[in-house]
Amino acid sequence: MYAQMVKSEAADDSAEAKAFQARIDAGEKIEPKDWMPAGYRKTLIRQMGQHAHSEIVGQLPEGNWITRAPTLERKAILLAKVQDEAGHGLYLYCAAETLGVSRDELTEMLLDGRMKYSSIFNYPTLTWADMGAVGWLVDGAAIMNQVPLQRTSFGPYSRAMIRICKEESFHQRQGYDIMMKMAAGTEAQKKMAQDALNRLWFPSLMMFGPSDKDSVHSTQSMAWKIKMNTNDELRQKFVDQTVPQAEYLGLTVPDKDLKWNDEKGGYDFTEPDWDEFFDVLKGNGPCNTERLAARNKAWDDGKWVRDGLLAHAEKRSIRKVAAQ
Ligand code: 3HC
Repeated sequence: MYAQMVKSEAADDSAEAKAFQARIDAGEKIEPKDWMPAGYRKTLIRQMGQHAHSEIVGQLPEGNWITRAPTLERKAILLAKVQDEAGHGLYLYCAAETLGVSRDELTEMLLDGRMKYSSIFNYPTLTWADMGAVGWLVDGAAIMNQVPLQRTSFGPYSRAMIRICKEESFHQRQGYDIMMKMAAGTEAQKKMAQDALNRLWFPSLMMFGPSDKDSVHSTQSMAWKIKMNTNDELRQKFVDQTVPQAEYLGLTVPDKDLKWNDEKGGYDFTEPDWDEFFDVLKGNGPCNTERLAARNKAWDDGKWVRDGLLAHAEKRSIRKVAAQ
């Protein structure tokens, strides 16, 4: 089904497409059964599918620390957060399915590399302070990107975002709370928190996507209100909000050219290393192989459950027909 859609995306200047764009411009919500250009459907499936994959793969770096949490309370908080991420993936797969693609198709495209997940999850989580930095920076960046998506034009995506954003705030707060405890702790703990910030700062900036000049989808996605801001706009907002938080912790953002620019009303900062970014996207990040292997193993290990559920559903439908 998805493959047919991909083929049919010709440039569309038909009367329907013009009427569709007028609906978007008027701020109307597009629902699954409404007419939509093939390209709108295709890029929504791409963005929502990759968003959902990011939620699911994003559980792996944190899952690594559930059994290693320093206290029962921290274990319970981290467990709740990781469970939330599974739910976020579920909402987004369900929303994507309304566009005519199945969850199995989306999963296959993740597992065989045709679809991506957020590059940040290809970096390792080496210490407990990383759990703080992931919540503070990664969920902080996710919130920055997802809050505007609550106003996106596609109804099911917008409604999923409203629910997800409510839970994301807890994710960011619990991470920042870990960083506060460590930054105010022993010298070793503060050093661990600084090390986590050093390693995750630039990969977190990459979460907003390549710089606007290299963004292939932004122009059309913004015209269709699938995207509400450009990548650089949200990255700038994230830096402006996060630097004071680092200062409050007494930690140093690992960017020697970071400087407040009065004229701009924001920080000047060093761009991420885009060669590294595109290299990670090509599969050469520190954890790409491990992450995809974990997802492939989960898919294979779960085959007996899927087969059992399908066999049960088949039996019930045969019984239903026989009873009519
Ligand atoms: N990681 C992996 N791929 C990325 C990326 C990243 N950080 N940033 C961009 N890309 C990819 C794009 O997917 C696109 O490739 P594709 O054509 O194969 O899909 C290419 O790089 C060019 O980027 P564009 O800017 O042209 O692409 P988009 O317009 O799609 O912008 C985006 C990228 C800003 C990530 C946008 O897709 C978006 O807003 N997505 C929704 C939010 C999302 O997916 N967030 C991921 C994190 S969710 C998360 O962290 C969960 C939290 O609970 C921890």
